[in-house]
Amino acid sequence: MTENPIGVNLTRHIHQTQQAHPEATGELSTILNQIALAAKIVSRKVNRAGLADVLGYTGTENIQGEEVRRLDVLANDVFISAFDHLGNFCVMASEEVDEAIPIPDEYLCGGYSVAFDPLDGSSNIDANVSVGTIFAVHRKISFGPRGDNSDLMQPGNRLVAAGYVVYGSSTMLVMSTGNGVHGFTLDPEIGEFLESHRDIKIPEKGKIYSCNEGNYGYWTEGVRRYVDHIKESDEASGRPYSTRYIGSMVADMHRTLLYGGIFMYPGDLKKDPTTPHGKLRLLYECAPMAFLCEHAGGAASTGRGRVLDVIPESLHQRVPFFAGSTNDVRELESFVAKYEGA
Ligand code: AHG
Ligand code: MN
Ligand code: MN
Repeated sequence: MTENPIGVNLTRHIHQTQQAHPEATGELSTILNQIALAAKIVSRKVNRAGLADVLGYTGTENIQGEEVRRLDVLANDVFISAFDHLGNFCVMASEEVDEAIPIPDEYLCGGYSVAFDPLDGSSNIDANVSVGTIFAVHRKISFGPRGDNSDLMQPGNRLVAAGYVVYGSSTMLVMSTGNGVHGFTLDPEIGEFLESHRDIKIPEKGKIYSCNEGNYGYWTEGVRRYVDHIKESDEASGRPYSTRYIGSMVADMHRTLLYGGIFMYPGDLKKDPTTPHGKLRLLYECAPMAFLCEHAGGAASTGRGRVLDVIPESLHQRVPFFAGSTNDVRELESFVAKYEGA
């Protein structure tokens, strides 16, 4: 036979990963394939958003206090419908739903929990800017037959799988089950995700910083000093860095994974001058992105410690977030330690 005419599609990659783990039950494989199905459905809606009357607002607010867009609701419904009957999950959490989402009584529960941001960056959708979906999968640890919050509120260092879908110039699924980070691009003509980015590795040091500098005045001193530092001209040390900020975490983190540098959503002192509060949510934005960063050879920090070591205290908890090239994240941490005390 000539070379494999199909290449490595997502299904083949998932099978190969499962076969590498004799103890695997196949549950995770089913989950990942179902995520891909849901992603294809959302991709189709996003790519026709302007035509399919799914732009604009619903007129309601979510627990985050954000105006909910029709596509937020649509994507949320697609992922919940893809997961609730699978028999592999015991409980779910979504950015768009206040409380944990139980598996309906008529369906079996399985050995995993999932937290997801069904549509990330949705404030950009009407301007046709890339948006995405983020997911995080943990093992069930509760004793009851049905899951509960404890299955969701585990530190990221216990994640078994995490990833995102970026609905951009093409639709890509980027994920890790702990053995490298791999990217698959959707071929809409055959409706299959084909491997396009095997074993993504973040450069050790980058030349791009990504943050909403409009919040500069609310940041803590160490963060401000760090950003001032990387904007100073010093050819020998590769400064100043270039700035890139899309405003969709998935798109900004996708570029950071591929090109390196540092993505930052610092805590700000807007609400409370004594304690910096982050915007990005731990369970379904920061922890899954941190999992991917570390498995791609990068780092992810709250500024004072590893994101994956944060013990969640609530479903929609927010944390300050700095992630990307290890050297850049460590330098940020050194500025926080120097100017804000360890
Ligand atoms: P979501 O659309 O899921 O609420 O997430 C939006 C987040 C994230 O995607 C992005 O990094 C950040 O909000 C941008 O915030 P600012 O507009 O404050 O910069
Ligand atoms: Mn989001
Ligand atoms: Mn969202």
